[in-house]
Amino acid sequence: MLSRRDWLRRTALAGAALPFAPRLLEAFGSREILTRELIRRAIPSTGEMVTSVGLGSSATFSQVARSEDFSALGDVLRALVDNGGSVFDTAPSYGASEEVAGTIARELGLSDQIFWATKVNVAQQGSADPAAARAQIARSFERIGTDPVDCFQVHNLGDIPVQMGILKEMKEAGRIRYIGVTSTSEGRYNDLAAVMRNEPIDFIGVDYAVDNRSAEEMILPLAQERGIGVLVYVPFGRTRLWNRIGDRELPEWAADFDAQTWAQFMIKFCLSHPAVTCVTPATSRPHHMVDNLGGAMGRVPDEAQRRRMVAYVEALPTA
Ligand SMILES: NC(=O)c1ccc[n+]([C@@H]2O[C@H](COP(=O)([O-])OP(=O)(O)OC[C@H]3O[C@@H](n4cnc5c(N)ncnc54)[C@H](OP(=O)(O)O)[C@@H]3O)[C@@H](O)[C@H]2O)c1
Repeated sequence: MLSRRDWLRRTALAGAALPFAPRLLEAFGSREILTRELIRRAIPSTGEMVTSVGLGSSATFSQVARSEDFSALGDVLRALVDNGGSVFDTAPSYGASEEVAGTIARELGLSDQIFWATKVNVAQQGSADPAAARAQIARSFERIGTDPVDCFQVHNLGDIPVQMGILKEMKEAGRIRYIGVTSTSEGRYNDLAAVMRNEPIDFIGVDYAVDNRSAEEMILPLAQERGIGVLVYVPFGRTRLWNRIGDRELPEWAADFDAQTWAQFMIKFCLSHPAVTCVTPATSRPHHMVDNLGGAMGRVPDEAQRRRMVAYVEALPTA
């Protein structure tokens, strides 16, 4: 991993050419996290290692991507990559996120250092037009600008026979490295499980958080059993957990598993489940990206600590 000193030297050298560098320096100024190793996890189907915290791109990331000035997102992507992270989760349906991230990554020379996980979904009323699905995938290739693309997943279980069929064909042809399926709706976990049992997928993307643990019952154990990697979505419940926590101080015992912030507390809860490959919170702020990557450092909670975290959060008022 790049040391802090190496990173600063590299940024100083590149600074003149990179419009995003100055703000990024600020983000790193007060933090020491680059000096420690980040936890990496193996993608079960290949053993390829990825850093266990990445970046999502709906929510605030997509709001900024849609705005006039999206330069902060360059800082966020640089903070991800320069700290040793790589997984970037996006989708054509996240407004301008995929396009803006692809453009910025190219401009900053980061495209090949990012693990691009995007999605396909053109299913209308249950069925997807194969030509439209292929056209959407082709647009994602153009936006991302790498070939192969690391990962395509069928978004929200949309028309699996058609869309997964295309992804399998493209994986076979060497255009896509990994394929998968996503759902963040507990009501569809049975459908998700059926795809996990019946399709040769590498990944699922699923919602999981300290106050949203339904995936533990069937989905996460099944992922372990079938050797499927897990991208954790919505680890903060978007705004839900932030609202519940409010301005409470982090409990002192969070230091027992090296969580220094609430974000790290919530990320470490997810990471402490052995099925999880990578947690991908969305952020539009470089210092939050650095904070989140800190969730991949040091110890992760053990079973007793997990129970304590759940009890603490369950006792908070719901917003
Ligand atoms: N069906 C699907 O395929 C599906 C569904 C849902 C989500 N996803 C994926 O999962 C990703 C994550 O889910 P999400 O974006 O819905 O919600 P989330 O990651 O749980 O929460 C994002 C929110 O947390 C804030 N945040 C991030 N880091 C923070 C930090 N260190 N300190 C304080 N606030 C912080 C962000 O604001 P700031 O910008 O201010 O940091 C944003 O408001 C998505 O972006 C998307 O890539 C996929």
